Amino acid sequence: MPEFQTSPGTRDILPPDAARWRALTGEFAAVVEPAGYRAIVPPMFEDLGVFLRLGEATDVVTKEMYDFEDKGGRRVALRPEHTASVCRAFVQHRPVEPWKVWYSGPNFRYEKPQAGRYRQFDQVGIEVLGPDDPLLDVEVISLAWDFFVGLGLRGVELRVNSLGDAGDRQRYADELARHFGGHRAEMSAAALETLERNPLRVLDSKRPEDAAAIVSAPSMRDHLSRAAVEHFAAVTAGLAEIGVPHRIDDRLVRGLDYYRRTTFEFVATALPGAQDAIGGGGRYDGLVADLGGPETPGVGFALGVDRTLLACDAEGCFAAPDGEVEVFVVDTTGGSVAMHITRELRRIGRSADRAWDARSMKAQMKAADRSGARVAVIVGSDEAAGGTCIVRNLGDSQQTTIARSDLPAHLDAVLGSPA
Ligand code: HAM
Repeated sequence: MPEFQTSPGTRDILPPDAARWRALTGEFAAVVEPAGYRAIVPPMFEDLGVFLRLGEATDVVTKEMYDFEDKGGRRVALRPEHTASVCRAFVQHRPVEPWKVWYSGPNFRYEKPQAGRYRQFDQVGIEVLGPDDPLLDVEVISLAWDFFVGLGLRGVELRVNSLGDAGDRQRYADELARHFGGHRAEMSAAALETLERNPLRVLDSKRPEDAAAIVSAPSMRDHLSRAAVEHFAAVTAGLAEIGVPHRIDDRLVRGLDYYRRTTFEFVATALPGAQDAIGGGGRYDGLVADLGGPETPGVGFALGVDRTLLACDAEGCFAAPDGEVEVFVVDTTGGSVAMHITRELRRIGRSADRAWDARSMKAQMKAADRSGARVAVIVGSDEAAGGTCIVRNLGDSQQTTIARSDLPAHLDAVLGSPA
C-alpha cells in the first residue's frame, strides 16, 4: 500500500474517464452556448460570508463547509456550489441584465462519502440574473432536459414544485412545524432535530418512522400566494407546450434555503435511491439582495457530473471518446527521424505518437499495436537513407513503401482528411 492515497471522498479521474469528463462539459457548452449563455469561472474559495447566505439552516452550511482561516487571518471557504459565487460576482461587477452564464467545476462538501456522493464533486450549470419571467424558468429547465436527452439518457424524471414567495414559505414552515409537532411521539430523532432548524426539510426524510407524518402533512400548494400560483401555472404550461415531460411533486424541497417559487430536480431512475438526483435548481429571487445587491430575480440549475456519468454507465450511453492516436511512428535509426515525422504530422492536423529509448523493432511494433493507432509509419536505416518510409496498416498488416514527402497525401487516402 503506497504511503499516500486520495483523501476520503475524493478520486483521481484517470484516462480514459477524464476525457469523457471533458467531453461531457463540451456537450453541455454545445447545448447552452447557442442559447446565449457565456462561460464564467469564479474562484474556488470565497469569503465564508458569501456561503453563509445559502441559509444557516442548511446542512451544506452548518455541517459540510470546508472553511478555514487563511494565513492573513481571513475566514474563507471552498465553494460548496456555484450559485452564491455567481450572485456575488453579479453584485461586484454589475453586468447588463439579463446576465446568462454557464459554469463547470469542482465543489466541496464534507459529506459522508459513498458511491455517487463525494467530498469533491463536479457540476455543470447555468444561472440567469434579471428577469422573473416564468418562460425563462421553462428555458432553463428545458436546456437541462435537452442536455440529458442529448447524452442518450432515457430514464430521467423531472420533478417540479413551487415553494412560493418568502412569506408563503414562512407561513408553510410554521404550519408544518405545527403539524409535525403533533406527531413527535412517532417521529425519528433525526427528523425532530431537523424540525427545530428547518421544518421543510423534514419532508425529505426517508425514515419509515416519519412516513405517516409526512403523508398527512399539509401541502405547499395550499399556501402559495396568487402570484406564485400564476407563475407556477405558466411554468408547467410552458413545459407541457414544448413537450418536456414533468411531474408536479409538492413534497419536493431542495437542500439549499435560497429557493423561491420554482424548484426542480432531475432523477435518474437507473441509480439507487439515495444518490439518484443528477441535477436540480430553481429560482432564488432573494439571493442577490442578501449578498448586498439590488433586488434581482435569479434562476438556474446545477447538474452533478459524477452522478450523470454514473447514470450514463447504468444506461450504457455516452461512452468515453477514444483517445487513440491515428499514426504511430517506429524509428529504428535512433529516434530523431521519428521526432521530425511526428512533429510534421501533428502540424498538418494528424495525431501521432512514437516509441522512446531506441527500443528494438519488435518492441516498437508491439507499442504501435498497443497504441490503438490505425497506421504505423516505419523507418529503418534503408528508408532513412532513401528518404522513404513504410506505411503499415495495423488492422490487416498490409504495407507499402512511399517517399516521405508523399506521406501527408498517402495518409489522406488511407485515413481520410485530418479531423
Ligand atoms: P444541489 O442540489 O445541491 O444544488 O446540487 C446539484 C447536483 O449536484 C445534485 O443534484 C447532484 O447531482 C450533485 N451533487 C451534490 N452534492 C454532491 C456530492 N456530494 N457528490 C456528488 N454529486 C453531488 C446546487 O448545488 C445548486 N447550486 C443548484 C442551483 C443552481 N440552483 C439554482 N442554480
